[in-house]
Amino acid sequence: MTRKILLMGNWKMNHTIEEAIDFCEKIKEEGLVRQGKSRGILLGVAPSYLSLQQVKRHAHGLIVAAQDCHYEDHGAYTSNVSIPMLEEVGVNWSIIGHSEKRTYEGETSFTCNRKIRALVAHDFHVVYCVGETLKEYEAGLTKDVVEEQIRTGLMHLTKEDIANVVIAYEPVWSIGTGKNASAEIAEDICHFIRTLIEEQFGKVAAGKILILYGGSVKPNNIHEYISQEDVDGALVGGASLKSESFKELLVNCY
Ligand code: 13P
Repeated sequence: MTRKILLMGNWKMNHTIEEAIDFCEKIKEEGLVRQGKSRGILLGVAPSYLSLQQVKRHAHGLIVAAQDCHYEDHGAYTSNVSIPMLEEVGVNWSIIGHSEKRTYEGETSFTCNRKIRALVAHDFHVVYCVGETLKEYEAGLTKDVVEEQIRTGLMHLTKEDIANVVIAYEPVWSIGTGKNASAEIAEDICHFIRTLIEEQFGKVAAGKILILYGGSVKPNNIHEYISQEDVDGALVGGASLKSESFKELLVNCY
């Protein structure tokens, strides 16, 4: 089964609205979305909430994702953004469960599950992030941790729901550290995730789901990841911020 490749930039707390628009215009001038499409590669970015509306207007075919959302449609949840608010600006993708949300803001697989269920109910696409800390990695607990994150995060989802979900395996120790996991580790864990998806949702869903690697992905290492059988692209932080580097990420996929 040939699956598409997805390159998604997670901009985290970077780029003003002006900088975000400038990035989009450069991507358009280079015709990168079209180039990617012709090779089965989808391109996306996840800007700050404040930039979403403008980035959506200037996206020219780029997938535009939020970096998080709340599971309730409205209510007394100071500082949060709801799914209908995202819908209003034309966004229908969201990252969920990024390790920075888990580490600094108490996100759990359980809260991720509530968000993912709310998102798929609104027919959103979800990029669900999983991955172990350095301590867990060193203790040999990677698969236990990832299994809990997958089972809890995806509980009560149907086979139809899972069609809207992308998984991103991001070992916490590789994020922003320059210490990227080897392609062998990425493949081992992405393959393991695919077997968990098969157990929970069946062979067809497991064959179709996109599983990304994230953590210090750069233009010079992207190719080794996407050459792996079970790695269907990357969730990229630092190297996705500049249009030149984003272009190199794409070109180095070929
Ligand atoms: P870096 O690519 O900067 O390591 O960040 C990875 C990441 O957290 C993407 O979500």
